[in-house]
Amino acid sequence: MTIKTKNCQPGHFYAVGVGPGAPDLITLRAAGLIESADTVIVPRSELAGESLALLTIRDLIDEQEVIEHVYPMKRDSSRTRSCWAEVAAEVAARVSAGLAVVQVTIGDPMVYSTSSYLLESLVDLLPAECIHVVPGISAFQATASVLGEPLTLQEDRLNIMPATDMDAVARALECCETLVLYKVGPRLRQLGALLESRNLLDRARLACYVEQQGREAIFRNFRDALADDSHGYMSTVVVRLGRRSWEQTPSMGKVV
Ligand SMILES: C[S@@+](CC[C@H](N)C(=O)[O-])C[C@H]1O[C@@H](n2cnc3c(N)ncnc32)[C@H](O)[C@@H]1O
Repeated sequence: MTIKTKNCQPGHFYAVGVGPGAPDLITLRAAGLIESADTVIVPRSELAGESLALLTIRDLIDEQEVIEHVYPMKRDSSRTRSCWAEVAAEVAARVSAGLAVVQVTIGDPMVYSTSSYLLESLVDLLPAECIHVVPGISAFQATASVLGEPLTLQEDRLNIMPATDMDAVARALECCETLVLYKVGPRLRQLGALLESRNLLDRARLACYVEQQGREAIFRNFRDALADDSHGYMSTVVVRLGRRSWEQTPSMGKVV
């Protein structure tokens, strides 16, 4: 069976998720669009030496123009917005000239992604029918798969949030059955102290560089994660707090 992939249309923009980092977890649609693009915009944080998105798609790059866009990591929304407004102007100029432009992003473009800033700016510059979003496998999905543990069942509540505000994390521990934390890197010890105070170290897992060849590191117990200092920015924590029984939820009739 051959599955027909989509090619880019001239004069269109695509925000494309490329998954967690393994080239064979790129969707067929994403691969077809990247291969047929005139220009590929690749985001790289100012703190990273290399673009993980570019590493993931490197085998799909041939004659496309590649623009590496270095974006700020500081919490300064005006700088971030003005930086993405500049990229949006560059994208809009190319798209208006009839070129097909793809911006790639790690994971999914709608989950904590730089694509959202770009899409926000492009809305004012391009017709809506020329802007497309292509989903990718998110880090939280890839993490659950490597751990081999379901994130949710039946009535369970899943909370996904950044580990940037430890008070907010503490509150979240009270109101879901599974807590997924992104952007953990520099706050690992703070998080460890919080989990220890709640007796949750054995229920927390840390997954670093999931699906990135030669870099993946999985800690099924947070105690082991705390003993190791090699985690980077690409780290996701899953805290399995328990199960929510049907008795705890209002009845909606037959559960299937
Ligand atoms: C800017 S967010 C990108 C999220 C991405 N758009 C998604 O859909 O998962 C960056 C955070 O995603 C998580 N992340 C992304 N890729 C990952 C990977 N391969 N392994 C573990 N965590 C990852 C980390 O928590 C990292 O701090």
